[in-house]
Amino acid sequence: MDTGSESGASQESSYARDLEEIHAGLSLAQKKLSPKYFYDERGSQLFEAICDLPEYYPTRTEIGIMRKYLPEMARYIGPRPNVIEFGIGSGLKTKLLLGALDQAVAFVPVDISPEHLQNTVDELERDYPDIEMMPVATDFTHPFPVPEPSAQSERNVVYFPGSTIGNFEPDAAVELLRVMHREADKGGCLLIGVDLQKDSNTLEQAYNDSSGITAEFNLNMLRRLNAEFDADFDLEGFRHDAVYNTVDGRIEMHLVSLRDQQVNIGNRRFTLNRDETICTEYSYKYTLPQFADMAAQAGFTVKKVWTDSKGWFSLQYCERD
Ligand code: TRP
Repeated sequence: MDTGSESGASQESSYARDLEEIHAGLSLAQKKLSPKYFYDERGSQLFEAICDLPEYYPTRTEIGIMRKYLPEMARYIGPRPNVIEFGIGSGLKTKLLLGALDQAVAFVPVDISPEHLQNTVDELERDYPDIEMMPVATDFTHPFPVPEPSAQSERNVVYFPGSTIGNFEPDAAVELLRVMHREADKGGCLLIGVDLQKDSNTLEQAYNDSSGITAEFNLNMLRRLNAEFDADFDLEGFRHDAVYNTVDGRIEMHLVSLRDQQVNIGNRRFTLNRDETICTEYSYKYTLPQFADMAAQAGFTVKKVWTDSKGWFSLQYCERD
């Protein structure tokens, strides 16, 4: 597989760019760090543990909806699709989908990490030897060329599970849906997981579990910055907090400073007051009309919505207008 690898020089400049971005985020009135620092090896393991927590309903609910409605989803998608997945997760949902589709022709996982892609493809190839694996190592928020499968496919289906769309601000989410619209191509469609608005208690418990794994996951970002950017965050000096902002319909993940303190990172020093927070991620929750409106702004019509019995999570089948 040729996923391309960065040269030493461009790796150095991306390090400089990342450091600059970190400095800029920590200079804001509301300090923030990019969620892209969550998923190193330890972070990915902790996230998998989060997905198994009793309080963290999204993963379990989405998988439940899939198990129940996959044959129907496959009928909407139709025969001989080319499946383009934006980002790669633990792989279970992908396996369920590929297994249910009618003669999937090719699978195009798109992810920033070449190693992550290779592992996924190696595993899937064993279970689905008839599906052509065509990984693309790139940042999926920008348009990219989709490889042509060797066999004729009927249409493209973009697959975006996990409600990762909720981790983008609404404007950026519409932009990303526009990229998907483009990659779906003429006659193509989108199957997307969207977490829905619900009572604050359920939401806050899902993001503040009692066993503390969520807290470890959020704090791991500071550990990573210490290791990779020569920072000196004291992990004992912060605690995790997640609050549901009912006005904007989003869970906000924060790291709260337990005292007045200073942190060095690269050649810069930042001051945090006691109770001041660093925001690490938003997770937007939508109503069905809100999401339909965003999809429409990107040129998609929602044709079918599947939800669980509590109406907590949705899988949505959308067609290009
Ligand atoms: N993308 C996940 C979500 O929005 C990330 C996540 C789950 C998360 N639990 C967290 C991020 C706790 C920070 C802290 O559901």
